[in-house]
Amino acid sequence: MDALKANTFLRIFQSRAEILSSAPGRINLIGEHTDYNKGYVLPAAIHLRTCFLAAARADNEVHIWADNFHEEEAFDQEAIVASEQRRWANYVKGIFWVLKQEGHRLGGINAMIWGEVPLESGLSSSAALEVSVIKGLCALLHIDLPALKMAQLAQRAENDFVGVKCGLMDQFISVFGRKDSALFLDCETLDYAYYPLNLEKAGLAIVVYDTKVHRKLASSEYNKRRQEASHALEVLKTKGARSYKDATTALLESSRGELGAVPYKRARHVITENERVLKAVGALQKDDFSGLGGLLFQSHESLRDDYEVSCPELNLLYDVGKEFPGCLGARLVGAGFGGSGIALLEKRAREGFRKRMLAEAEKRGFPGPEFHEIAIGQGAELTPFNNPGGS
Ligand code: GLA
Repeated sequence: MDALKANTFLRIFQSRAEILSSAPGRINLIGEHTDYNKGYVLPAAIHLRTCFLAAARADNEVHIWADNFHEEEAFDQEAIVASEQRRWANYVKGIFWVLKQEGHRLGGINAMIWGEVPLESGLSSSAALEVSVIKGLCALLHIDLPALKMAQLAQRAENDFVGVKCGLMDQFISVFGRKDSALFLDCETLDYAYYPLNLEKAGLAIVVYDTKVHRKLASSEYNKRRQEASHALEVLKTKGARSYKDATTALLESSRGELGAVPYKRARHVITENERVLKAVGALQKDDFSGLGGLLFQSHESLRDDYEVSCPELNLLYDVGKEFPGCLGARLVGAGFGGSGIALLEKRAREGFRKRMLAEAEKRGFPGPEFHEIAIGQGAELTPFNNPGGS
């Protein structure tokens, strides 16, 4: 940790910090819009993290200093109300709220948060914040929660307090991520497994292309896709499918008439994306990175044409990626409608690809994108730290 942070904490709160927790953002290799459809996902934690430095107070007041924004929010943990002006504060309040709902006794705290996960860019800065807070708060207040429960409560805070009806993938990977590994998760059974992905060793890079397109449709259209996909599943169930995981393309085709055009496309995305995740795991096991890349391209096509969650800026990544030598695969990542995409590149192709993307984006009058090369990092953790002058 930046040693200056403990100094800042002392200066702001006139007391010493007791715990430091942090949690990562994520990319998703493949398995998009499958988590809430109880299918498969294959995300990885990234090296960019959000940190939570905190100390207990003797009263019920919670004071949170957001160091990136230079803003403070204070509230009484006995009377938690969502904040209109400081949306970041609602992720912290949501964690207090959900822990209280679970019957845990909480007290007041002083805390400072800061982070490196780009905001609003589809890399799950919100899950990183929620998970860093729940991890730190549990340590500080001696609440013993299993890791899975932490992920589930962080999701519930986002669903029911912040009001975003996300699935479990982002919180799960932020808790369970492992360095240099992708994580396969069955979102129905919650069984999971790690698959090594050492980019350095493979001579590969994963570059995040942040379109800088504000995801204004993300929440309304996201909820609409959830409803459409769940409606389509109801129809497939009448034809004998138990869940999306065991619905075959043959069953889908035979149900085309009953489904209707749009639900058919939504279901086709979910069914084929689940298949692609399983194939991607097979490719990873064999170090078949061009096979993996091909699946990434197919995933984008399906998200663009069947699930209809892409946008011109994200399609540019796919179009350039498809014909750029050294680009193995590329696709949008996260909910879509803006935000980011990922490209799987041979290391030596990185700079050329970035230049080409910049030039093409400019030609089309798109907002200036940002690029981040990511390393695959570790899930949430507590980190020892030194207070100024010793603790
Ligand atoms: C967002 C949600 C996730 C998941 C993805 C799409 O990131 O938070 O739960 O649904 O979109 O795969």
